[in-house]
Amino acid sequence: MKNIVILISGRGSNMEAIVGAGLPAKVAAVISNRADAPGLKFAARSGIPAQVVDEREFSSRGAFDAALEVTIEGHSPDLVALAGFMRILGGDFARHYSGRMVNIHPSLLPAFPGLHTHRRALREGVKLHGCTVHFVTPQVDHGPIIAQAAVPVHARDTEMTLAARVLHQEHRVYPLAIRWFVEGRLAVENGIVRVDGSNARQALLAEE
Ligand code: GRF
Repeated sequence: MKNIVILISGRGSNMEAIVGAGLPAKVAAVISNRADAPGLKFAARSGIPAQVVDEREFSSRGAFDAALEVTIEGHSPDLVALAGFMRILGGDFARHYSGRMVNIHPSLLPAFPGLHTHRRALREGVKLHGCTVHFVTPQVDHGPIIAQAAVPVHARDTEMTLAARVLHQEHRVYPLAIRWFVEGRLAVENGIVRVDGSNARQALLAEE
C-alpha cells in the first residue's frame, strides 16, 4: 500500500475529498504550515496523524523546507499531495520530490498561475475556467499536467459562485489523479503526462 502525505494550510476540503475517496493507498499524515489550519481537526478526527511545521518558527525558507522534509520523511511517503498548501516551496525541495509531488491549482493552467484566479478569470471574461492537477516543479503552478476539469463561466457569476463551481470539480479531479498515481498508471514523457492501459479521461467537463 502506497503512503500519501497531504500538505494543507487551511480548510482542507481537497484533503477531505482525497481521504474520502477510498483510494487503494494510505493517507499516512496531514501536515500544515499553520497551527490554526481548520483541516487539521478533520485529520485528527479521522485518525490520521496531523502535524504542524509552523512557518513562523523559521527564519529562512531553507530552514522551513528542511524541517518540512524531515517531517514528511517520517511517514515514508510515496506521494506528497499539496492541497491548498499556501506556501511557495524552494527549488531543492521541489527537485527532491520530483515526480512524486502533486498540486491542485484553481485554474486551467497555464492560464492564471498564482493567486486570485477566479477574480482574474472574471476580469478577463473567459468562458471556461476550472482546475488543474499537476506534478510540482521548481516553477510555481507549472509542471506536467495530469488532469483538468473545466466549468462554464456564467454572466452572473461572482468570485464566490465561480469558486464554488470550480471547487466541486477539484473534489472530483484530485482524487482521480491521485488514484492514477497510486495505481502506477502515470507516465511523463517530454513533460506530457499519459495515463496508460485504459480509457481514462484526463479532461473532465462539469455536468450542468
Ligand atoms: C483550493 O481552491 C485549491 O485549488 C487552492 O486552494 C484552495 C484550497 O481549498 N490551491 P481547500 O483547503 O482544499 O478546501
